[in-house]
Formats: sequence, C-alpha cells, structure tokens
Amino acid sequence: MHSQMPSAGAAAAPGESCSASPAIAVGVAETFGLRSRARALLVGDGNFSFADALGKLGTGCAIAATALETHEQLVEAELQDVVERIARLRTQGIAVGLGVDAMNLADSLPADIQGTFDVVIFQFPQHPERRKIHLQRQLLRGFFASASTHLAPEGSIVVSLCRGQGGTPAEEVPRKGADTWQVQEAAAEVGFILQQVRPCPVQELEVLGYQSTGFRNRGLRETNANVVQDRGFNYKGSLTHVFCRETSTAFAAFPLERRHDISFWEPEDFSEEQLQQALSQGVGPGVDLELEMLDQYCKEDGRRARTYRVRMSTIRRALTLPAFRKICEAVRDSISASASCVASTKGSAEGQKREVPGMDIARAPQ
Ligand SMILES: C[S@@+](CC[C@H](N)C(=O)[O-])C[C@H]1O[C@@H](n2cnc3c(N)ncnc32)[C@H](O)[C@@H]1O
Repeated sequence: MHSQMPSAGAAAAPGESCSASPAIAVGVAETFGLRSRARALLVGDGNFSFADALGKLGTGCAIAATALETHEQLVEAELQDVVERIARLRTQGIAVGLGVDAMNLADSLPADIQGTFDVVIFQFPQHPERRKIHLQRQLLRGFFASASTHLAPEGSIVVSLCRGQGGTPAEEVPRKGADTWQVQEAAAEVGFILQQVRPCPVQELEVLGYQSTGFRNRGLRETNANVVQDRGFNYKGSLTHVFCRETSTAFAAFPLERRHDISFWEPEDFSEEQLQQALSQGVGPGVDLELEMLDQYCKEDGRRARTYRVRMSTIRRALTLPAFRKICEAVRDSISASASCVASTKGSAEGQKREVPGMDIARAPQ
C-alpha cells in the first residue's frame, strides 16, 4: 500500500546517533521490533516522549506516532511542551497524528499516515476510567481488532502493560484471570498469539527522554472529556508483550490452556476414542487435548450418562475460550443427538437434575 509517511532514512545501526549506550539502544529496539526500513505505528502516545525516545535510537525504522487527544485538547490543557515536541518530531521526520482512536484506526488515522505497518505499538494503554477493568479489556480488544487490519502479514502488535495487568504466565505474581486485562484473550479474538514477553525497558527509555504519563486522580467521571494526563505511574514489573499472527511456523511463549465440561447420554456405540477424535477434528491441528471422565451414571431403564472434562493446550493456535466451548458443545450436541436423548443443555439443567440424579450438575456446561 502506498504511504505518505516519511521514509525510514538511511539505515543506521541502533545507538549510532543516540544518547544511550549501543547495548541499551539495541535492546530497546529489539524489544519493540524496530528494524531498519520497517514501519512502526505508535498509538496512544500521550505526550509523545515515547516516540521521541524511539526516534533517538537511530534504527532506520520509519515511525508514525499518534495520540487520542486532539491539538485543541492539548492547547486547552496547556500542554505547550507537548505541542512543541510534536512540531520538533515532525521536522525530524516522525509523522504525528492527533485525534487517532486506537480502536478505530481506519477512520481516524490522518491521510499522511496510511498503509500497513510492520509493528503497531501501544505503550501502556489505559482507558481513562482506569478502575473499570471491563473498559480496559474492551480497549485492548478494540485495539487488537483495529491494529490487525493495519499490519503487514508478518507484522507484530506490541503492548506494554503494568505489573499484573496482562494476566499471562510471565507475571511475577500471578493474579486470578478475572482480575486481569486478559491480553492474550484479546489477541486470540483476532487470531494472534503471544510470541514473546520481556520486561518493559522503562529506565532505558527514560535515558532517551521518555516520560511515562498516566491520568490525574481527580476529575475521573463517566466522561473522559476533561481528563488530563500529567503524571507518571508505577512501571515496576511492567512487561512488553509481542504478538504475531497464528501461522504454521509461529510458536507462543506459553501454552494457551483451557478446559470445559460436557455431559451427555451415551449412544449405543459410544467410545472415548470417538469422542477424542470428534473433539480433535473440531479444534483442528496444533492443539493437544486431554479427556478426564468426571462422572458416569446408569439409569434404571438402562440409559447411561457421562460427564467429561475436556482440557486443551496449544502453543500454535489462537483459540479463544468461547470458541473452544462452542466446539465442545457442538461435539456434545452431536453425541446427544445420536443417543436421541439430550442429558445436559444450558436451558434444561433443572430437567436434568430430576432426570439424572447421579450427575454433577454444577460441572455441566455453563
Ligand atoms: C497510561 S497513559 C500512557 C501514555 C503513553 N503511551 C505513555 O507511555 O506514557 C494511557 C494512554 O492511553 C490513551 N488512550 C486511551 N484510550 C485510547 C484510545 N481509544 N485510542 C488511543 N489512545 C487511547 C490515553 O489517551 C493515554 O495517553
């Protein structure tokens, strides 16, 4: 696709023209996937000090930096230093876009920042209503969906998150899934797997002039119209996550593990091997499946029911939990249909309780 962005310029080794040591520059460039002649898009760049810092690495990567805030909002918030930094970045060949919504890049990227990118980076995303975890998840999901449509086929999506937010096995202190932003899930929804996680090099970036910005404590209301970002946040333990499309050659940094329970009446010719085969066909290649029988029940009339826990693990596939559940339920439905008697369905748990007293309803599909 044609791009009007400034060209990447002469290829330089990272660190050649930068205030940080070459080793630091190389490490930072690698973490964010900045390579000579590549194109990087930064979204949600707050005060643009992140773009400024990355620009100083001298990687030869063409950088386009964007923020949600408009020029008018920056002026109104008296962020003159940011306005001046933007002007300077432009003279240095970094394209800058204002009023750019990371969840809707198609409609908000300016005309001079178009085309596809080799890497799309969101450094510390955060919805202004920072305590509402569902809005943080929504922001991540919207960002992944939008970024994936602006990414080159082999491109990466990079997201830095504060300690505990991502909810991946890379966290030093794991949190319950319900308390995290579930970044892997957001990525999997658009077919991306977590390829690499590294500590976010905030201190190294600070040497290059990066000043992380958060939101003011005061002023957080239902609307974010008057929320101004003006102070740093705690970045200790923060992680930079790199995602790529699921392909036949990509491997995830950690296995994606899921489980779901299914219950059904046994058809005459039921065998566990057939169940395993049907599930394997449903999930497709690159997924390991394990069956554990949780319960078995025989009614006076001779009918038999079973409950299985289905566990999956994959380092190749971006399989979301809803998609996995749907596959398990479809297999369960087809077995139930051949037994011509449905033992367990979402809407008939009560009926099942009466009909099959020995079955563990609590473990039936949710
Ligand atoms: C914690 S601040 C981080 C700012 C900056 N990236 C940094 O590292 O200092 C969160 C940023 O996310 C931005 N943001 C929130 N929702 C956004 C959206 N829908 N599109 C683009 N940026 C968004 C905010 O404007 C804010 O600048």
